[in-house]
Amino acid sequence: MAAEHTELQESPEHTTVAVIGAGPAGLTVANLLRRSGIDCVVLERRSRERVAQRQRAGIVETRAVRMFDSWGLADQVLDGPPSDGFLEFRMDGESHLVSDDDGSDGLRARLCPQQVLVQRLTAAYLADGGDLRFEVADISLDDLVGDRPTVRYRTADGTLRAITCAFVAGCDGDHGISRAAVPNGVLTAHTFDHGIGWLTVLADAPPPAHPLLAVSPYGFAAHFARGPHTSRYYLQCPPDDHPDAWPDSRVWEALRTRLADPALVSGPITDREIFRLRSLVHDPMQYGRLFLVGDAAHIVSPLGGKGMNLALYEADLFARAVRDSVHDHDDTGLHTYSRRCLRRVWNDQEFSHWLTRTLHDAGDDTHSGPFQRGLARARLDRLFTSRSAAGAFAELMVGLSPAPNADAQDGPGPGAEAC
Ligand code: APR
Repeated sequence: MAAEHTELQESPEHTTVAVIGAGPAGLTVANLLRRSGIDCVVLERRSRERVAQRQRAGIVETRAVRMFDSWGLADQVLDGPPSDGFLEFRMDGESHLVSDDDGSDGLRARLCPQQVLVQRLTAAYLADGGDLRFEVADISLDDLVGDRPTVRYRTADGTLRAITCAFVAGCDGDHGISRAAVPNGVLTAHTFDHGIGWLTVLADAPPPAHPLLAVSPYGFAAHFARGPHTSRYYLQCPPDDHPDAWPDSRVWEALRTRLADPALVSGPITDREIFRLRSLVHDPMQYGRLFLVGDAAHIVSPLGGKGMNLALYEADLFARAVRDSVHDHDDTGLHTYSRRCLRRVWNDQEFSHWLTRTLHDAGDDTHSGPFQRGLARARLDRLFTSRSAAGAFAELMVGLSPAPNADAQDGPGPGAEAC
């Protein structure tokens, strides 16, 4: 037992799954478990208000929309219009529309900002009688390789509590405690730094007709909808730049130049930060009875919008695996969880990496050199003119590959531990 928890007096509660973190991953896991009749407790260190305000991704991909629909949750947790299925690539001012129509039937991607999804998942879980504890502190995980892991934490009023469980879902993001509870040497971290910074700006300004990605000699820029009157913009910048170097006038001038749109309508800027594009994969995504879900296991650079959607994919896989184990005593899903997730993680990392390199290199003959610029422009030209290249791109955008029946055949991964 951790030293700071020795004051614990009450005997521990028990639940089937302890879920650490109430972001998209943890809340989806909790809702799906609840729908499966499996009890769980969600522990979140922030307040409900803080969690509900965190703005990040904006598109729930086609696969994830259909996943929520298969659980009967799509109408309850998704809000915002369906995506019209087009992305605009603007190359030195010239517009190219690329479709994400992969030929499959069924529901399609939704423009649903992450904070809206989080608010609705929270409401759905609580309305269903779910147990969600905000503002908990000092979570520690013990006995992860035993039959009955213990989660200890401190409530907002300082009381120490303990919960024993059958499984822990580590959904607490890149800086959480779940992954840190795994002993050194068990997980391997694969990292990549693109050497690129992005200034991200949120503004009360009209959204674009389609998600817009712009290549220009002045650097990459993008414009996405975040609501009927709200937009998120991205501007490539040096990774160690400071937001203070980007007053409003400079932001709007750079956007008008890079988007090749002198008439771009501005609006009050409500948020502005700079981050470094990086990618990270931890392998395996399981240690004993701890299963890592979402950002706790990986970071995907933002182009392609895969970060939140990977979290939703893994939440679904994990919930089904627990359901099969608890109801049918079938542990196959638990044994194959890490390998199946990592297959998709690398697939999405590759897509995001390809799109990131292509869109930055295509506009820049200094950063990567004119040869890389030529290659990147050739890749985009192929995307705009080849039906099969456009088809492969659409397949990656909707998120339906790799096919689930192909990865269902996988056995336990070499690093995955049996429960
Ligand atoms: N104890 C309890 N909760 C914690 C702890 C902790 N020690 N550390 C972090 N958390 C909580 C955070 O406050 C947050 O609410 O875990 C949650 C993690 O949520 P996210 O970081 O959003 O991660 P995830 O749910 O995996 O969502 C996937 O996709 O768009 C991307 O990175 C973006 O957030 C997004 C992610």
